[in-house]
Amino acid sequence: MQDVDAIVKEALAVFAGIDDADKLEQAKARYLGKSGALTELLKGLGMLPAAERPAFGSRINAAKERLEAALNEQRERIQAQKLDARLTEEALDVTLPGRGPGSGGLHPVTRTMERIETLFRSMGFEVADGPEIETDYYNFTALNQPENHPARSLHDTFYLADGKHLLRTHTSPIQIRYMESHRPPIKIIAPGRVYRVDSDATHSPMFHQIEGLWVDERITFADLKGVLVEFLRRFFERDDLKVRFRPSFFPFTEPSAEIDMSFGDGWLEMGGAGMVHPNVLKNIDIDSERYQGFAFGLGPDRLTMLRYGVNDLRLFFENDLRFLKQFN
Ligand code: FA5
Repeated sequence: MQDVDAIVKEALAVFAGIDDADKLEQAKARYLGKSGALTELLKGLGMLPAAERPAFGSRINAAKERLEAALNEQRERIQAQKLDARLTEEALDVTLPGRGPGSGGLHPVTRTMERIETLFRSMGFEVADGPEIETDYYNFTALNQPENHPARSLHDTFYLADGKHLLRTHTSPIQIRYMESHRPPIKIIAPGRVYRVDSDATHSPMFHQIEGLWVDERITFADLKGVLVEFLRRFFERDDLKVRFRPSFFPFTEPSAEIDMSFGDGWLEMGGAGMVHPNVLKNIDIDSERYQGFAFGLGPDRLTMLRYGVNDLRLFFENDLRFLKQFN
């Protein structure tokens, strides 16, 4: 049978070498548990002469207390080590600079629209607006395209389920809305979204237009050319920019032209234009003998493509941040 002192010495050494709480409790059982070393010694008490029993009993009790105290100390040490480890692991460096909110930026087409507005305002144009959901009347009829006019089939149009409304196919209805509530002189541009059943590298089903309208006495085609060439040169900051007026047809202008700009080896159509058709003026009771005017519709998405050298217009509307961030 082991001696009490030897057991205490061994147990203290074992406890001191353990740094895991569960293992410490297992070690405790080996010495103080039901069949632990000290408990076994106590079981031999009855075999001792009666006179020695009290002294032996108190030695064992003293040994037990010693071990319990050592266990408590070791438990606390293990607990403290665990806390230290966690503090180190989850350390925060409060001296690091903050991350701050990410900075956003304007969409490239929005930048173009703002630039266009600024340039036209500097030439004396005001900015007007109109609804994206239009009636057949403003989108076609009032623009000199009666119901059976073949020009209506030029636009593949998104009609609303009620059969009465449509998504405007161009910004030209704003001409009518504006002239209904204003009399000449009228000198406006009207930017906005328009919709057509179109999709390829230079066509998107939703795109933007900038309408222009200048109605006054003695406005001529030369004014139209002057304003548009001046605008395009200022927009692209190039005095040698090549602009071409190609004869064309729109029911609401006469004569009509497409405006093309040199682009690489060829030309890219930037918009349509012409002298406001007398029927359009008559429809809204403006004296077409006294007043003449020009109108145009430009494609700002294409202007953005050319300005930034983007080769597919649909990229502007996919909302891919990797693409959009390049413009900020
Ligand atoms: C018109 O929409 C006429 N309303 C323009 C006009 C206004 C003529 C006033 C006369 C007087 P057009 O369908 O050609 O015309 O379109 C004008 C411009 O919009 C085009 O030159 C092009 O730059 C742009 N555009 C047309 N379709 C798309 C599309 N699907 N995606 C992007 N841009 C387009």
